[in-house]
Amino acid sequence: MREEKIGVLCSGRGSNLASIIAAVERGDIRAEIAVVIADKADAYALERAREKGIPAVAVVYRDYAARADFEDALRAELSTHGVTLIVLAGFMRILTPAFVHAYAGHILNIHPALLPSFPGAHAHRDALSYGVKVSGCTVHFVDEGTDSGPIIMQAAVPVHDDDTEETLAARVLAEEHRIFPEAIRLYVDGRLQMDGRQVRILPCQ
Ligand code: GRF
Repeated sequence: MREEKIGVLCSGRGSNLASIIAAVERGDIRAEIAVVIADKADAYALERAREKGIPAVAVVYRDYAARADFEDALRAELSTHGVTLIVLAGFMRILTPAFVHAYAGHILNIHPALLPSFPGAHAHRDALSYGVKVSGCTVHFVDEGTDSGPIIMQAAVPVHDDDTEETLAARVLAEEHRIFPEAIRLYVDGRLQMDGRQVRILPCQ
């Protein structure tokens, strides 16, 4: 088995981070969370990490003159902590192709919609205004596009007539907390095989 060191990138409250930490604590994900990085100094995710004794670092976007400088700082932190797998858990910035290339095949993201429907930052709003009856969440490998990489796992939830963005988001979030740690576990156990856009889940050895 590979010895993975996970770097989790967040922007806000970090509930997905908490579900990943819990999966590591249970021994479901056999890897270390080496660092949590947020692009905002006040992201609650940083506090969650510190409470668990996990190194927590703010790399604040507006402190840098250009996106390339921001990403250089991110890469420096990831490399300092020996990160081999990057997990985007509510990280609200688009990474440049140069960054994605540097970690190709080693970046996972969670998106709160059934991709390829409703990519981007307003998935729940877009799903409600389109009128879909089913929404959900998607864990995927990150490629150069926005929410466009090969899909690892998805979960569906019903959309109710009286849903608001908040009620739909809460229903989807419960599924995020279930499938994101599960997808990370499969990655860490070497059970994800990419064949073009197809991601196959290999049986346990
Ligand atoms: C999640 O819904 C995630 O899918 C989206 O942003 C939200 C982050 O929530 N990209 P949290 O910070 O993990 O609580």
